[in-house]
Parts: sequence; structure tokens; C-alpha cells
Amino acid sequence: MKVSRSKSQSPLTLPERMRWRPALALLPVVFAASFAMAQAGADKSASDTRRSGYQDMGAALQKMQDDDTANPGMLYVQLGEQLWAKPAGAASKACADCHSVADMKGVAARYPAIPENSDRPIDLEGRIQLCRASHQQAERLAPESRDLLSLAAFVARQSRGLPIAPPDDARLAPFRSEGEAIYRRRQGQLNLSCAICHDDNAGKKLAGVTIPQAHPTGYPIYRLEWQALGSLKRRLRNCLVGIRAEAYPYEAVDYVALEVFLMGRAKGMPFEAPGVRP
Ligand code: HEC
Ligand code: HEC
Repeated sequence: MKVSRSKSQSPLTLPERMRWRPALALLPVVFAASFAMAQAGADKSASDTRRSGYQDMGAALQKMQDDDTANPGMLYVQLGEQLWAKPAGAASKACADCHSVADMKGVAARYPAIPENSDRPIDLEGRIQLCRASHQQAERLAPESRDLLSLAAFVARQSRGLPIAPPDDARLAPFRSEGEAIYRRRQGQLNLSCAICHDDNAGKKLAGVTIPQAHPTGYPIYRLEWQALGSLKRRLRNCLVGIRAEAYPYEAVDYVALEVFLMGRAKGMPFEAPGVRP
């Protein structure tokens, strides 16, 4: 999985880049002890101790997510509903011409998936892009664009409350393994892996934030720090930048592999999109 990395594609704002800096200077010290303990500790996988990031938030934010009139992500869902019905591209077809809303029930909870006539997985945004290209003959939407996120949020909303259910497709296995390898690999100037934070140190505080277990239950999410809706990719890019690794370009297969792994790891947990996060 060779990918070219380009700094220029990072849409991260300055505050996003800076946020962890003070805490991260101390991190190797803070984590060294707990990391050693985790290594020596017993296997915890026997009982289900998984928590959504939702459970790590304060009551006010949980309420904001649960209340459709307060959840800012719902504005994108509404916009997505309008786009859903709007003809686009040279084919002048709307999503609604080919799909009923009811058809979308459960779809987001089982992506990434491998489309017909393909051998590699795509995530929900990738699936929407594929329909635009092949069925609407429309241009690709820019990553993190309002329209793409709104369509994704509208589709994802139809799976709210359903269990995350990755497809039972053996062809996904190598991608899941690749995602897991990335998850466990130390990287960046801080030489940290995702697992060191999200498995070994989940529940601890970093720069005043509780480190969540990194379950992709709520995507796309409205993140207060972004003041906008964002995709799981954007979240992963933030974490990469946080450990001073270079974020992969948006189209990199690495993200989809990570997403396949993370959705498998969260299998059975309820889907919450559009989630709210601090
Ligand atoms: C230095 C610790 C650290 C590392 C390493 C790290 N993250 Fe995170 N991650 C965080 C923190 C803290 C948050 C909570 C949000 C924030 O930044 O304030 C978070 C949030 C997340 C979330 C969002 C969970 C939710 O509830 O929406 C996901 C998913 C995630 N990380 C995945 C990853 C992956 C994949 C990697 C490896 C590429 C990684 N993280 C590396 C600290 C880390
Ligand atoms: C001209 C018809 C057509 C249009 C227009 C169209 N699609 Fe599709 N879409 C399809 C077909 C056919 C499939 C199934 C392909 C497959 O099974 O691999 C599909 C699959 C999907 C899936 C995956 C469903 C699943 O069960 O895995 C999603 C999500 C989706 N479309 C969303 C959209 C959205 C959002 C739009 C509008 C931006 C759209 N589609 C426009 C024909 C269309």
C-alpha cells in the first residue's frame, strides 16, 4: 500500500495542529509507565468493555447529540435530504430517482464495503462518489465539501440506533489486517501508535480531553472544535497530525483500511450519526 503523501492537502486549521502540543511534550513520560503496565497486563478482550466516544462526553454534549433540534449535524442532514431529491450531472438523475430512503436503512452501518465488479472496499463517501460518477455522470464532490458531507449525513442518519454490522465478505479480511497493522504501528515524530492511546490509555486525559476508544460510531460528526461536520477521515487526519505524522492524502487506501478495521472492532455497537464531539 504505497501512497504519496502531500502536506498541501491538509485542511487542518492552526488550532487543530497546535491543540495537543503542550500535552504531547510530556506524553512519552506520561505514557511510558502505563504502556509498560498495559503490556504486562492480562488480556481484557474476554468481556465487552467497549465505549462509544458518546459515553465519554459530558451530559450537555450527549443531550445536544440526542436532541434533533439542538444537534447541529441535523442541519446537514436536512441539506442532504434536499440534495437527495435534486437531479444532478449529465444524466440529470437524483438519488431519489433510483433509491428510496427506506433502502438506505442500515447501509452506513455496514460500510466500508466492496462494490460489485470491484475488489477493493470503499467507504460511504466513496459509494456516494461512485453513484455520482457512474449513475449521475456528475463531477466528484470535493472531500469534506458541504454537499458530500450532507449527503453522507442524510444516508448515515437512516442507520441511527442500528448495530454496526460489517459485511460478511472474506475479501475484506486483507484490508482489515492492513488497517490493524496501521493501527498498531508506531509512527510520527512522537513514535506513537493508535493503539497506545486508544487501547492502552483510553479513558485517561490528554490536554484536558478524555482519550476515547476510537469507535467510529457517530460519523459524520459535528465537532465543536471544527464548528462543522467532518468525516471519519478528517478525524483520523487530526490524530495523525497530533502525533506529528504526515496525514495521508484524502484518497489514500490507508484510511479505508483503517475504517474497515475500526468498524470491525466496533461491530455490534449502536450507530449514532450524526454524532456530536467536543
Ligand atoms: C496521542 C494519543 C492519540 C493517538 C496516538 C491517536 N489518537 Fe485518536 N484521539 C485521541 C484523542 C485525545 C481523541 C479525542 C478527540 C480530541 O482530539 O480531542 C481522539 C479521537 C479519535 C477518534 C474519534 C472517536 C469518536 O468518538 O468519534 C478516532 C476514530 C481516533 N481517534 C482514531 C485514531 C487512529 C486510527 C489513530 C492512529 C492513526 C489515532 N486515533 C491516534 C488521541 C490519540
Ligand atoms: C441512476 C441510478 C442511481 C442514482 C441516480 C444514484 N444511485 Fe446509488 N446506487 C445505484 C445502484 C444501481 C446501486 C447498487 C450498486 C451495487 O449494488 O453495487 C447503488 C448503490 C448505492 C449505495 C449503496 C447501497 C448498499 O446497499 O450498499 C448508496 C449509499 C447509494 N447508492 C447512494 C446514492 C446517493 C447518495 C445518490 C445521489 C447522490 C445515488 N446513490 C444516486 C443507482 C443509483
